[in-house]
Amino acid sequence: MRSCSSRLRSVGATSCRPSSLPRVDFAHVLVVGAGQMGGGIAQVVAGSGRRVSLYDAAPGAVEHGLETIRRSLDKLADKGGPDPNEVLSRIEPVGDLVPADLMIEAVIEDAAVKEDVFRRADGTLPPEAVLASNTSSIPISTLAASTNRPDRVIGMHFFNPVPMMSLVEVVRGKETSDETADAITTLARDLDKTPAVANDFPGFVSNRILMPFINEAVWALHDGVAEAEAIDSIAKLGFAHPMGPLALADLIGLDTCVAIMEVLRNGFGDDRYEPCPLLREHVAAGRLGRKSGQGFYSYS
Ligand code: CAA
Repeated sequence: MRSCSSRLRSVGATSCRPSSLPRVDFAHVLVVGAGQMGGGIAQVVAGSGRRVSLYDAAPGAVEHGLETIRRSLDKLADKGGPDPNEVLSRIEPVGDLVPADLMIEAVIEDAAVKEDVFRRADGTLPPEAVLASNTSSIPISTLAASTNRPDRVIGMHFFNPVPMMSLVEVVRGKETSDETADAITTLARDLDKTPAVANDFPGFVSNRILMPFINEAVWALHDGVAEAEAIDSIAKLGFAHPMGPLALADLIGLDTCVAIMEVLRNGFGDDRYEPCPLLREHVAAGRLGRKSGQGFYSYS
């Protein structure tokens, strides 16, 4: 695999996959969703020498995603990263789902929307292809149930900003096969990420820890314990976090934070995971964080 991947990186195109399944080199990857996560995923996959087809149902979303990828690649090129044109040349915008060796789905955190993507992908991608989701909390086994290949469905949870964050949380559904988990773990390493394997519990590991932390920070703001800047300074300087929880919530998207808290609350049947009313208030007012220009902070 390593030598195959090195070759992919240097010559960009052809497959050296063995005939056994699943296709562990994943020479052609379909990324569904061209938002901040999907765009970042397309960028790192194309950066590894693989061919990417990028699809988003929203008009103009792929073009917007490609502009964001270009900006990120330009920043990285200034620091010795790959040639942006070369990486971008491996990303092909597509108008619908297309056959590929692997799908990585990165649409909104809505189970019904994701299930629909998985159902359609199951009918479009070859039977040996792996269907992965970047979901941050929706059960992988639920998504797998929309397909006829639950052994080849898996969580591949990247972190924002994808080009900068080295973790991939690999989430095994109840029926995910060892072969699929091994292939995706190997792929994550080949993308220069560090995989950590988790089982299919609400919020997996990452958001079971992170989201209650963020929600509690929002409660502290709601209760008037401190201003947003002070709350974030306490986390940054007191716990050596790179960003405070409120700035991080703005980066993740406040709508996504609410959606993840709801998955935790419903999944565990425990009201302590109820999203703070202030979080809901911001979302209802369209203040979604960085992506809308306003969240706990303003972004111009
Ligand atoms: N592409 C390329 N370069 C980027 C970039 C991107 N997308 N984002 C940041 N950078 C670069 C900047 O250009 C900057 O480069 P220079 O040092 O050369 O100027 C460098 O990274 C540092 O950026 P900043 O100076 O803007 O700020 P920073 O030092 O705080 O770093 C950060 C930014 C990498 C985002 C850092 O703050 C960080 O690691 N924050 C924590 C992020 C985090 O926790 N993410 C996980 C969220 S949870 C999630 O995603 C999953 C979920 O399920 C909710």
